[in-house]
Amino acid sequence: MTEAPASPLTAYIGKHPGEPNVADPALLADPFGGYGALREQGPVVRGRFVDDSPVWFVTRFDEVREVLRDQRFVNNPAAVTAEGSREDPLTRWLDMLGMPEHFHVYMRGSILNNDAPDHTRLRRLVSRAFTARKINDLRPRVEEIADDLLARLPEHAEDGVVDLLPHFAYPLPITVICELVGIAEEDRPQWRAWGADLVTMEPERLARTFPAMIEHIHALVDERRSALTDDLLSELIRAHDDDGGRLSDVELVTMILTLVLAGHETTAHLITNGTAALLTHPDQLALLRNDPALLPSAVHELMRWAGPVHMTQLRFAAEDTEIGGTPIRRGEAVQLLLVAANRDPRHYDDPDRLDLTRHPAGKAENHVGFGHGMHYCLGASLARQEGEVAFGRLFARHPELSLAVDPADLQRAAVPGSWRLIALPVRL
Ligand code: HEM
Repeated sequence: MTEAPASPLTAYIGKHPGEPNVADPALLADPFGGYGALREQGPVVRGRFVDDSPVWFVTRFDEVREVLRDQRFVNNPAAVTAEGSREDPLTRWLDMLGMPEHFHVYMRGSILNNDAPDHTRLRRLVSRAFTARKINDLRPRVEEIADDLLARLPEHAEDGVVDLLPHFAYPLPITVICELVGIAEEDRPQWRAWGADLVTMEPERLARTFPAMIEHIHALVDERRSALTDDLLSELIRAHDDDGGRLSDVELVTMILTLVLAGHETTAHLITNGTAALLTHPDQLALLRNDPALLPSAVHELMRWAGPVHMTQLRFAAEDTEIGGTPIRRGEAVQLLLVAANRDPRHYDDPDRLDLTRHPAGKAENHVGFGHGMHYCLGASLARQEGEVAFGRLFARHPELSLAVDPADLQRAAVPGSWRLIALPVRL
């Protein structure tokens, strides 16, 4: 069952028969079936974005990876339309979300809305903190946080039932990313609430929350500047202050916002989606229990089969080109359907089957749940590690864990592009 989406986002549904809108409730309720059917129509299919603007859906594994590697498809629409013009899709989208105009600049400063050379500069500044070695060093602390949360789980249970989303899946990644960035413990519930507001994409909540976050981050930066430490926030402030404009004011604020939000909103749902998948596939869970060395492969497969991000940001063609034989004109928008690519039968045997042994150790990651190419998820190693720790520790500590509701009654949020449970009640 799926909740009814917020009204402004559904205004255009059904307006163009044969051109599905990403907010269509049928697609949100069954993205694997719905987007899977589009994939079988062709590698490139005409559709509509939430704001009714036309998009080309790219549906198949090979074509999705090809476009994400192709620098003729850009993230910043201003590169192909006059900046600030009403024709600029980002401006139109931000307007539609009710984002006050003087805040648009923050969205434009995001690593995800930029292309080379700005993207390269921004990515270089933060990627040092997310190397595989740095992330590996964090593992004992991630395990400690997970163990603490699991030890406290029974305190939140009623008649043996507890919701894993607020008591395990959210606090684990939010604690990890806040410690890494340098966000104080007392501020974390506020960030969690902001994140919850932003992902709804409901205009009134965005209009209220976004300015409050920006103001808070500016204050945080000013405060930390007087007593720099070795956290990521201090490192970014140094890059801004000492190093001749390597990072602008707006970029600094937007980077902090992006890291904290991207760092927990997605991973929390990998943990709940993955747990629900394992609890409804006891044969796979038994494999994992018998062989904890399977954890890395299991996390790859849970990302492929139940990853929380179903599509990338829009890309825009910087010149006339084609994808899989379909002509794409300069300025047109392209939506990469990770959810459809990850179940493409041209790439996977029996793609709808959850098979934790699909990705043997040492084999490179074999799905597009973290994207691909230049904007490949910066936090992928961290998210994978959090997944490994979460599943490993949860099932070891609670060997009897089971779903406390019928799987058909698990409720999901109706947010285009993401796959998230509203709650995950389990019996300990
Ligand atoms: C980019 C998914 C966790 C930070 C992306 C992209 C995807 C993604 C699909 C590419 C978007 C595009 O190309 O349009 C996920 C999933 C996660 C996760 C499914 C968890 C399971 C994290 C974490 C962080 C993070 C823990 C913390 C640092 C970022 C950033 C980008 C990004 C900064 C932008 C990279 C760039 O533009 O170069 N993520 N992510 N993500 N992710 Fe993640």
